[in-house]
Amino acid sequence: SFSNLPDAPVDEIFALNHAYVADTDARKVNLGIGVYRTEEDQPWPLSSVRLVEEEMYRQDDPARHEYLAIEGDLTFLDLARDLMFGFSSASSDSENKSKQRIASVQTVSGTGANHVGAAFLAQHFKPKHVWVSTPSWANHQTIWDLQGIERKSYPYFDASTCSFDFNGAITTLESEAAEGDVVLLHACAHNPTGVDPTKEQWKKIAEICQRKRLFPFFDSAYQGFASGSADEDAWAVRYFFNLTSPPMEMCVAQSFSKNFGLYGQRAGAFHLVTNGANPSEAPLVRKNLCHIIRGEYSMGPRYGSSIVKRILGDSALRAQWQDDLTIMSSRIKRMRQALYDELVRLKTPGSWEHVINQIGMFSYTGLTVKQVLELKSEFHIYLLKSGRASISGLTEKNVAYVAQAIDTVVRR
Ligand code: LMR
Repeated sequence: SFSNLPDAPVDEIFALNHAYVADTDARKVNLGIGVYRTEEDQPWPLSSVRLVEEEMYRQDDPARHEYLAIEGDLTFLDLARDLMFGFSSASSDSENKSKQRIASVQTVSGTGANHVGAAFLAQHFKPKHVWVSTPSWANHQTIWDLQGIERKSYPYFDASTCSFDFNGAITTLESEAAEGDVVLLHACAHNPTGVDPTKEQWKKIAEICQRKRLFPFFDSAYQGFASGSADEDAWAVRYFFNLTSPPMEMCVAQSFSKNFGLYGQRAGAFHLVTNGANPSEAPLVRKNLCHIIRGEYSMGPRYGSSIVKRILGDSALRAQWQDDLTIMSSRIKRMRQALYDELVRLKTPGSWEHVINQIGMFSYTGLTVKQVLELKSEFHIYLLKSGRASISGLTEKNVAYVAQAIDTVVRR
């Protein structure tokens, strides 16, 4: 019988979303789950995605529901890899050599990529510890705990300045992390804080990883969505990848949920980067990844990855996708500014510059648990207990209401 099972933790993000949907109050505002919403507070199938869907519908390809290979769609994987690592389609010899360092497989979006990577490393690399930032996306903890790898945390957020705790992070990694430990890093738009290292700070983190032989594991969930530029948002990953003497082994979990608006379609990829010393290593890694994937779910899903493949492989669609990224990232920046302006206008106690300085989907507002709970119960405004607010839930219509509510709970 299962009656003595331990109670399982509830996922805060999805539980909160459920509560929001069930709330019948007309004033309700969802700043919880990280999903893009339009100015009308609606989900948005990207215009580039729509074009591809219409094309797929017209083509009526009888093979559209066939199985993919276990590793996934190879063309999709090449395009996903090139987007992440910045390879051009007409590759030079040195680029081809770089590509051969990488073993890529298709995954069940970002969670699946993190999972497959964690499962592979747990089995074949056997790290003693995984270092996760405090705070981090809660699912990182779950994913690594389920693999039985001991989790350690490095400081990430300086609450007094609402900025990246660079000294805390590097001091901890320098003095406590040991060779062979995995260090989980957010490629850009850190979730939940919206605070990223500067390029100089990334260089120092890379130097520590390289010198101490720590194993970097990047989670890239917001490439192009954060700054509007896929190249800019991949800067840290590419910097680590291009380091020489010696080149580093590393992993990248790549999600297409946010940057293609394909949340429920679960499009993603996992890349394991070898050090390049042995050209037969990457194919062997991929074979082992396939073994895990086959045993767990056979292969990644087809629909979302076909859309991503079509867009990334066509220059006109790709340009349209770039416009979509600009639309999403600039609306979020506008809403950051609008919230900030309202709080300043209301003279809400405290400093709110961090709302405009943070990047990506979220703002780590600095609101306390008590204030967050009051926002929910009295104002029907939903955000995570940590104070993380998903900025895309703000619109021109509700931002004054939200600012007024924040002002009210902050003044108590
Ligand atoms: C979030 O952090 O809200 C999103 O990434 C959704 C998720 O899967 O948790």
